[in-house]
Amino acid sequence: MANQTNNEKKSLLGWVDARFPLSSMMKEHVTEYYAPKNFNFWYFFGSLAMLVLVIQIVSGIFLTMNYKPDGNLNSYHLPAAFTAVEYIMRDVSGGWIIRYMHSTGASMFFIVVYLHMFRGLIYGSFKKPRELVWVFGSLIFLALMAEAFMGYLLPWGQMSFWGAQVIINLFSAIPVIGPDLSTWIRGDFNVSDVTLNRFFALHVIAVPLVLVGLIAAHLIALHEVGSNNPDGVEIKKLKDENGIPLDGIPFHPYYTVKDILGVVVFLIVFCAILFFAPEGGGYFLEAPNFDPANPLKTPPHIAPVWYFTPFYAILRAIPSFFGTQVWGVIGMGAAVVLIALLPWLDRSPVKSVRYRGPIFKVMLVLFIISFIGLGILGAMVATDTRTLVARILSFIYFVFFLGMPFYTKLDKNRPVPERVTMSTGKQKLMFFVYVAITVVGAYLFASNI
Ligand code: HEM
Repeated sequence: MANQTNNEKKSLLGWVDARFPLSSMMKEHVTEYYAPKNFNFWYFFGSLAMLVLVIQIVSGIFLTMNYKPDGNLNSYHLPAAFTAVEYIMRDVSGGWIIRYMHSTGASMFFIVVYLHMFRGLIYGSFKKPRELVWVFGSLIFLALMAEAFMGYLLPWGQMSFWGAQVIINLFSAIPVIGPDLSTWIRGDFNVSDVTLNRFFALHVIAVPLVLVGLIAAHLIALHEVGSNNPDGVEIKKLKDENGIPLDGIPFHPYYTVKDILGVVVFLIVFCAILFFAPEGGGYFLEAPNFDPANPLKTPPHIAPVWYFTPFYAILRAIPSFFGTQVWGVIGMGAAVVLIALLPWLDRSPVKSVRYRGPIFKVMLVLFIISFIGLGILGAMVATDTRTLVARILSFIYFVFFLGMPFYTKLDKNRPVPERVTMSTGKQKLMFFVYVAITVVGAYLFASNI
């Protein structure tokens, strides 16, 4: 108690620490969180995902100040929600950049998260003891998809309306409860003003709260077990006399500095898209969404935004059996659920792809081809040939997951080293690449001002 009082007198920090575990939390999670010293390019995307989340929340708050979730026609005979977005784009000062930050930010979020998940896949970061880190991650992915889907309804354009119509209708395919369930989700017999209002509530507050909670759980679970690394070696196995992992370095300052570099390069890429191609060539904001929602006019080609297209392609590829289309819906759901089950599907004793055998490597390449191929097909109008290709790629997608318990057991892996390995030559090269991007980016922006 005497000590505590002395501390309190000494500094403000001491005063806070006597009432809130600030220093010990900073130590545990930042200054004395020992991360493997061999993190590479792939380890940028966790912190970048947090950055994009902040961008989305801040730009979202400013958008909400001028947006109205109202599907009814106003004095211009246009839906009020649609004109609210046009008003933000044309009349609100800085409105256009806030709107584009948010709409382009949504696509950037998925790019970053897909790369983040891919890192986990290639380095076996989902394997014991990080199963819960992965499960929380998968729930984040699910919440992110729900968040993006509901956000896309808000501008109340043609694609907002018809996209929601198609996806909510999928629930009708569920036997017995399906039709009632989809009416319950819409709050109406059609996508309407009621649907818009509830999606707005869920998009601006409910799902973001869930996301933030899940991200906290994701990081708490990660810090409990410690980070994996590109070699898939558990650094906690070899510690010095002070209990510090031999291959660990404190997160701060080493990785805070490294992450700042990632942030700078990311912001250059983000700003380049924001200023020069905010609609992402019609993939981030689709052309039909610049027309107001019209329940009487179905667009000729309804396609979801690019980040949903791999799953949408699976949905379309699965034919209806026994007079029901529910199989496509089940297939699409299973494609997402299987990702969460990876920790229990993979039976390999080796984590990182660096030391895995040839079967896993071949399966991984096939998986990448199937995922990207399905993504491309899902954005296109379906033809007979495309449907056939989508079926083959869907088959490969499922074999990658469902065959995993078998082929990971059979594979001939290479021996895993005791300690992590470092390739300084490669690191130096990457450093010059980042510096070059930063310098060129800075020059381009400066010359445009
Ligand atoms: C908003 C989305 C997300 C945020 C903000 C986020 C944040 C983070 C951060 C900051 C880290 C630590 C730094 C790093 O290892 O890169 C991390 C690690 C990790 N995340 Fe995420 N994450 C998100 C989504 C996901 C998803 C969707 C998955 C997988 C389904 C996932 C799986 C993992 C795994 C396995 C690790 C540990 C990686 C390792 O130690 O090698 N995360 N995440």
